[in-house]
Amino acid sequence: MPSASLISVASWLPERRLTNADLEKMVDTSDEWIRNRTGIGERRIAAEGEATSDLAAHAGTLALERAGLAPADIDMLVLATSTPDMVFPSSACITQAKMGLTCPAFDVNAACTGFIYALDVATAMIESGRARTVLVIGADVLSSVIDYTDRSTCVLFGDGAGAVVMQASDEPGVLSIHLGADASGVDLLYVPAGGSAAPMTAERLAAGEGYLKMNGSEVFKFAVRMIPKVTNLALADSGLTAADVDWLVPHQANQRITDTVAQRLGIPHEHVVCRIEDTGNTSAASIPIVLDFLQRDGHLRPGNILALVGFGAGLTYGAAIVRWTRED
Ligand code: ACO
Repeated sequence: MPSASLISVASWLPERRLTNADLEKMVDTSDEWIRNRTGIGERRIAAEGEATSDLAAHAGTLALERAGLAPADIDMLVLATSTPDMVFPSSACITQAKMGLTCPAFDVNAACTGFIYALDVATAMIESGRARTVLVIGADVLSSVIDYTDRSTCVLFGDGAGAVVMQASDEPGVLSIHLGADASGVDLLYVPAGGSAAPMTAERLAAGEGYLKMNGSEVFKFAVRMIPKVTNLALADSGLTAADVDWLVPHQANQRITDTVAQRLGIPHEHVVCRIEDTGNTSAASIPIVLDFLQRDGHLRPGNILALVGFGAGLTYGAAIVRWTRED
């Protein structure tokens, strides 16, 4: 059975910066509160008319270039997003057109865990021989569902996209993936209207039902409980322990969540990727974005063991244990 290896990684962030100082002028908050409670300094916001597929196509094209591949080499596009361009067609199909791909393309929605879910789908396709080369993108424009008068949510999120090219290989790349979902937390993080349960109406729009609603402290508790658990399950599936992890690459939601998770896993700070300060929470994009930062900063070495871990609305959670196989 072939293994699935990550052969390139790339990311793309919109140009516009929304700093804590900007937010101080919009809602009753402060740079000090945001930094102390979340670790965030600024986030990027998509321009008017800039959609999830635009961000996804930028990151995907860069990932193809870095893999030395042409659009015709891609057998499948899996796009993780919970902020699609429109209800349908999928943002993957719109991205396909923007990138000049011709392969099957579909979206996966597991909110902020979407990238790990998409990685699992791509891995299964490669290991089963159904595809040889798969482009996996995580992209979200969370700013499209954020109420910029609600200080409890608007300081947290940003927009962005990250992508990896995965390919069949004799060398083990993705060692194990463990996914989970706990629907008892469905109402802890959601957008009430705009779907089939409550189609958007003028009344719902006026009532703010098109915006993200979150019970932050419950999501926080869930994350610090489930992330260490699912990471240990995935590590055990690979015959590894937390001591083998060169880089813990967590979904960047809150620096305090990352610190607590790392402490519970016993992974020292210098082995943990913490880049939330520059991006905020970019949902399905956050893991591949920070993976790209890690590679560009020259921190990834062949043979490094990475634990990619995420959690999000659903509530969903997942961990992937990956051996980095690229030379540069
Ligand atoms: N500025 C100033 N004060 C604020 C702000 C703000 N931006 N936001 C809330 N506060 C106030 C609250 O009103 C509250 O005031 P009170 O004590 O007078 O009532 C106080 O700060 C404390 O509020 P808490 O909600 O208890 O603050 P907490 O320390 O829990 O931090 C936070 C809130 C940052 C949201 C945290 O709970 C968190 O990060 N949770 C996880 C959220 C998350 O990761 N979500 C994404 C999941 S991924 C996805 O799928 C999208």
